[in-house]
Amino acid sequence: MVHKTANAQLDQLNTLGFTAQASWLVTAEKPEELPEVFDFALSQALPVFPLGGGSNVIFQGNLEAVVLQQKPHALDWSENRVSELLPNEVLLRVPAGYAWQQLVLDTTNKGYFGLENLALIPGQAGAAPIQNIGAYGVELADSLQAVEGYWLPEKGQPAKFDILAAKDCGLGYRDSRFKQDWKGRFVITALQLQLSKQAEPRLNYADLKARLAIKKQQLEAVNQPLPALIAEVVTELRRSKLPDPAKLANAGSFFKNPVISKQQAEELLKLYPDIPHYPATNGCKLAAAWLIDQCGFKGTKRGNVGVHDQQALVLVHTGGGTAKDLLALAEEITSAVKSRFNVQLEREPELVAV
Ligand code: EPU
Repeated sequence: MVHKTANAQLDQLNTLGFTAQASWLVTAEKPEELPEVFDFALSQALPVFPLGGGSNVIFQGNLEAVVLQQKPHALDWSENRVSELLPNEVLLRVPAGYAWQQLVLDTTNKGYFGLENLALIPGQAGAAPIQNIGAYGVELADSLQAVEGYWLPEKGQPAKFDILAAKDCGLGYRDSRFKQDWKGRFVITALQLQLSKQAEPRLNYADLKARLAIKKQQLEAVNQPLPALIAEVVTELRRSKLPDPAKLANAGSFFKNPVISKQQAEELLKLYPDIPHYPATNGCKLAAAWLIDQCGFKGTKRGNVGVHDQQALVLVHTGGGTAKDLLALAEEITSAVKSRFNVQLEREPELVAV
């Protein structure tokens, strides 16, 4: 059943904790109800804004929209099947409303590899492809097979349910077509993932590898599946650096790690030999946190917003602030990094204005 609330408060539904009201908050229990939601929005002459866990959005004010939430459902493990071609591969269908962290716990506890490095990322599964969530050398694209959802009607084309192959979704570093040319056109209703029963830990991050080695020794007697153990170590690592949004409002990394040309990177490295850098498809990726840190922003406070004191890439809101305050601080940081390093930072969370 579709549940509708008029003038709904969204303060608890965005991890930055900004005050905002939606004209309507609508909860759909199953994908088949989406046409009803869109008909309702049409009758109100309002757009539909799908909201996941609210962990990657910046609300600038009230939303003159029908905000859509999809209700979480239990995972149907009977749908989960072993691939006929590859007997070690497990195919799993996950409803959009399912909490990402719960999914990581469920799958790693069963001993499946694939999502363990993505532990403790906030939000719902359905939002994961939009920015192709990633951490510790792994991204969703590594296990995503397909995305199920609903195309809105446009240019004479009727609305329709569809299944999109992951390779057609333009998944890149914190990017996808869902944020670009498909923005506002497709509502994700479920993910199809391919996980593995075979041991394939991805431990390129020195921190992760070192901590896992210690943990393994400590826990030799405990019969815990390896993916669950890795997820636990990732959880500890994240907790040591990133603030818990339930205690200190934030939206994770506020900027993407910038990719610059190899030539610019070489020049910068001459001036700053310590700059953390990684090879990237079109050049060289720099650690935005390091650049911001070097400009002296770690722990900075500007009224009710600030920069986290453990991780310079995370902006925080201590209560009573607004998106305007946060964006002013972001602008201050962006200009400082630009003038010192000639590197342009790009915002990561979505700025919502409807
Ligand atoms: N660093 C600093 N100062 C800081 C924090 C970090 O100099 O305040 C340095 C570190 O020493 C390190 C480098 O910056 O050399 C990179 O730091 P870290 O390994 O903590 O990762 P990150 O690049 O800052 C990215 C993701 C995170 C993800 C981690 C781990 C982006 C935008 N962020 O952060 O993702 O958890 O790697 O894989 O790619 C998120 O997207 O919300 C997020 C938290």
